[in-house]
Amino acid sequence: MAKNKTAYVCTECGQDYPRWQGQCSACQEWNTITEVRLGAATAARSGSFSGYAGAGSSEVKTLDQIDLNEVPRIASGFAEFDRVLGGGIVAGSAILIGGHPGAGKSTLLLQTLCQLAETLPALYVTGEESLQQVAMRAKRLGLPTGKLKMLSETNVDTICDVALREQPKIIVIDSIQVMHISDVQSSPGSVAQVRESAAFLTRFAKQHNIAIIMVGHVTKDGSLAGPKVLEHCIDCSVMFEGDSDSRYRTLRSHKNRFGAINELGVFAMTERGLREVANPSAIFLSRADEAASGSLVMVVWEGTRPLLVELQVLVDHSALANPRRVAVGMDSNRLAMLLAVMHRHGGLQMADQDVFVNVVGGVKVTETSADLTLLLAMLSSFRGEVLPRDLVVFGEVGLSGEIRPVPNGQERLVEAAKHGFRRAIVPIANAPKKAPSGMEIIGVSKLSEALTAL
Ligand code: TYD
Ligand code: MG
Repeated sequence: MAKNKTAYVCTECGQDYPRWQGQCSACQEWNTITEVRLGAATAARSGSFSGYAGAGSSEVKTLDQIDLNEVPRIASGFAEFDRVLGGGIVAGSAILIGGHPGAGKSTLLLQTLCQLAETLPALYVTGEESLQQVAMRAKRLGLPTGKLKMLSETNVDTICDVALREQPKIIVIDSIQVMHISDVQSSPGSVAQVRESAAFLTRFAKQHNIAIIMVGHVTKDGSLAGPKVLEHCIDCSVMFEGDSDSRYRTLRSHKNRFGAINELGVFAMTERGLREVANPSAIFLSRADEAASGSLVMVVWEGTRPLLVELQVLVDHSALANPRRVAVGMDSNRLAMLLAVMHRHGGLQMADQDVFVNVVGGVKVTETSADLTLLLAMLSSFRGEVLPRDLVVFGEVGLSGEIRPVPNGQERLVEAAKHGFRRAIVPIANAPKKAPSGMEIIGVSKLSEALTAL
């Protein structure tokens, strides 16, 4: 008989250790490592934790013998969702959808599955809401309800038994945090249970070629419970973001074995469920009719497409000894650095000014292409001068005041032209020989040139 095994698992990040220690070396948290007893079956399984165990036969092949046929994908019915997944749901893959409670994960998956069930067998497992709640929601949203199989269950073994009987092609698990496996001796919701359940389901997905989508809630600091574990065993991890008080939700991939990451999908939460937003630039650009100083539009690159976003800066005289620098939707260290560049190379003294930066629409900009936009918007606010409404700006600013090119300059300009922008200030290396029709492009190589151009 196989011996019962013990593992030591960090309850914060899910890292496991052969013996107990006070501090987790992975996440540096103290006193988070707890003893977990694995059942015989799990102990035998936990040897290979890649989730790919059992993904194929143990036959050895050279790379050129491998069948390169395109992995079959299931279209989810939402073009935005498909794009984030890299072109659809890959059969036999394990996908994790994370997000805050109320983000709309259950709604998105219910809508997707009801539509999919019309053409292929699908199973929706709900562990959080009752069957009646889900049914009421489906009815209210006017979804087709005749084909989707529903199951209210939290035991992973039972779910797999049902799946073998029903032979679905796609399963939704809502949510992974309430799932448990009988041979892990730890309470449901603990990291050990979540991690073993996710690993078990991932293997099940591979073995039976069933796509499994798992819902995962994020913790207070925005990471998935046991993130390391969940993220490394699954194939694809996407995050559903957005405040519950805003209408718009964004879906972004953080890991994808079958496509590009950082792909963005935009949805709107309406009273009739989630609607996809095909032209996101339009919503982030819904500017007030009256032009104001400190407001400027930039083109950021999101995954594989450009997105026009408005940036607002407010510079105001500060009554404090340490003026405030607040950045919403941008990195505040970057803001501090750009202020220094502005002082040194733009000759603008802002040591006694509060600076507030806001990216409109709740977008988070991580790109450096927003640098130049930020500096010009800052100048506009500082001087109280309104910038032309048909002006768009992007470019990276270096520490010596040079303007560096950013990737995909041409596509960014085309997107701006499509939305009616007539003037652009861009890095000189990004200025095309032939501008998009009707657009005047000013290429700059130094901060001072940009200020003059303005
Ligand atoms: P839900 O899918 O239950 O979120 P999650 O599963 O991520 O926790 O979505 C819940 C929120 O969405 C809730 O606050 C109400 C809102 N909502 C709408 O505004 N319209 C709708 O048609 C639906 C179904 C939900
Ligand atoms: Mg839910």
